[in-house]
Amino acid sequence: MTKPTVVVAPDEAALARLAADYVLHVPGQREGTFRVALSGGRTPRSLYELLASDGYRSAVRWTDWHVFFADERAVPADHPDSNFGMLDELLLSRAPLPPDRVHRMRGEAEDLASAAEDYERELAGSCSARTPSLDLVLLGIGDDGHTASLFSGTEGLREEERWVIANYVPKLGAHRLTLTYPALAASRRVAFLVAGEGKAEVVRRVLAGDGELPATKAAAHPRATFLLDRGAASALGAEWRGV
Ligand code: 6PG
Repeated sequence: MTKPTVVVAPDEAALARLAADYVLHVPGQREGTFRVALSGGRTPRSLYELLASDGYRSAVRWTDWHVFFADERAVPADHPDSNFGMLDELLLSRAPLPPDRVHRMRGEAEDLASAAEDYERELAGSCSARTPSLDLVLLGIGDDGHTASLFSGTEGLREEERWVIANYVPKLGAHRLTLTYPALAASRRVAFLVAGEGKAEVVRRVLAGDGELPATKAAAHPRATFLLDRGAASALGAEWRGV
């Protein structure tokens, strides 16, 4: 496994700035079209707010952006749990991003399996090759080691062909739409944004290659970057923290 790059920020506010600068300068951003898949959850909220703020908004080449989603909950777009809803509120509605560049997963669909197939087609249609060459997938890591909506013990972990699936998550008693391992592996880069001491142990396990945790397989991407605050990095040995 190629060793992921680990960058540690002193606190959560600095982590949001680090992540915003990473997104702005990631290779591909300046080459015409930038296809990024974004995640939900609490951690990236300050990043999204920052990208929409006066200081950053003008530095982003919005006309090049295609925004996809790493995953979505099975709720309508105006539901408080909707990843699209959160992103729309914090970033998309504030950015000069043409609506046809925002590719929402239809979490409200009765038939989530078809919604996943539609999304896979939309993703493939926006990429020139048959592979889902997303330039960047921004991921989080749950306390239990899930990433996107790839949870331990779920069927979705075994998916080898499809890029987008409806994955039933027994512990949540709910379906989620999610990119799969093949979609993550085919993307140019993956970046994990993780904050807080409560995530220190799971981050340590993922970087130690613990195969029990879904995030570990995603982190095996040859261009994986971990953007951490000091708390999330606190269980890592010196070899990871560059000290
Ligand atoms: C989601 C996700 C999920 C998230 C992790 C971490 O929709 O919930 O995309 O994979 O990234 O659960 O979430 P936190 O940032 O809230 O810890």
